[in-house]
Amino acid sequence: MDILAQAKKMSQQGRAIFHMEVGEPDFPTAGSIIDAGIDALRQFKTHYTPALGIAELRNAIAEYYDRKFSVKIDPQRVIITPGASGALQLTIACLLDTGENMLLSDPGYPANRNIAEVLAAEAIAIPVTAESHYQLNAELVAKYWNQKTRAAIVATPSNPTGTLLPKKQLIELCQFIDQNKGKLIVDEIYQGLVYDADDYTALAVSDECFVINSFSKYFGMTGWRIGWMVVPEDYVGAIDRIAQNIFLAPPTVSQHAALTALKKETQIELDARRDEFKRRRDFLVPALEQLGFEIAVKPQGAFYIYADCERFTDDSFSWAKQLLNEQGVAITPGIDFGTYQANKHCRFAYTQSLEILEQAVDKIASFIRR
Ligand SMILES: Cc1ncc(COP(=O)(O)O)c(C=O)c1O
Repeated sequence: MDILAQAKKMSQQGRAIFHMEVGEPDFPTAGSIIDAGIDALRQFKTHYTPALGIAELRNAIAEYYDRKFSVKIDPQRVIITPGASGALQLTIACLLDTGENMLLSDPGYPANRNIAEVLAAEAIAIPVTAESHYQLNAELVAKYWNQKTRAAIVATPSNPTGTLLPKKQLIELCQFIDQNKGKLIVDEIYQGLVYDADDYTALAVSDECFVINSFSKYFGMTGWRIGWMVVPEDYVGAIDRIAQNIFLAPPTVSQHAALTALKKETQIELDARRDEFKRRRDFLVPALEQLGFEIAVKPQGAFYIYADCERFTDDSFSWAKQLLNEQGVAITPGIDFGTYQANKHCRFAYTQSLEILEQAVDKIASFIRR
């Protein structure tokens, strides 16, 4: 956040900044989705909807899983939320009481820990390495599981590492957590942004997981604040009650626009964007390796590269600040994602055009060689 604020300030002062810290697609929302939002407004779709979302969208999401993954789910289990953020808040509020805990990976998406803490619950961070693809596995979870543990959360592809949770690893996690009467939360927000690997959903493996998703990333709708989750049948009522109190309803216009996002025709445009992200990854991974960064697991999804920068520094936060000040390149230091080996890692986001990424790499090279 410090780096982001500093980068913004420098931009405002007229300096050219190479933004490799931004966690959202550079593409604007697709035109057809915007038109659908405008149409919804013109038709005065401006009132509250049910707390769980409009039936049309819940049905369309169930159909989407069938079309994309051949997984059949009851639309009643689909809950529309204000972004994956809303889904995470509802899920964690539903599963954890005061003093209980959930397990998560370090490095991992930082908000989960904070949401648990707001609820006077606890997040137990488990250090993960390249050995488990920077993901939790059954063995690690077993080591940290205690009497107060109610859940574990994973993200596949992951932020900040861009790595996938191998399906076998997911199956073993589900088995362990089921046996221990907990719940696995699977954040699939980067689904659709998967390169040369099988894109799968945890719903194909188990009906007992809480599966979180969003229109933010693959669908390019970050500002519309719209996401969803699929929960085990028994939890729909509880989530409905919490949603009624916390959010009342997800944004109405965004729900109508999201219907168009799910259409097959829109998907063609979104897949072309995914291919562009892949081209950027294919450029950036070897370019960074050539500069001397170590990338222990090739990222197969999202738009992030988690790189070991120990060769250049033992304090990635100060290093990132210097890189920004001297060369105008903004990256995210490891400390944003946890504490484990955070000082020797940083995250590069490829949410800029190839041309800009090429220039940024030249700037980083000059910084390293200075
Ligand atoms: C892993 C992960 N989960 C959830 C979110 C929240 O996204 P949103 O609320 O925009 O859907 C993000 C955002 O960057 C993320 O990286």
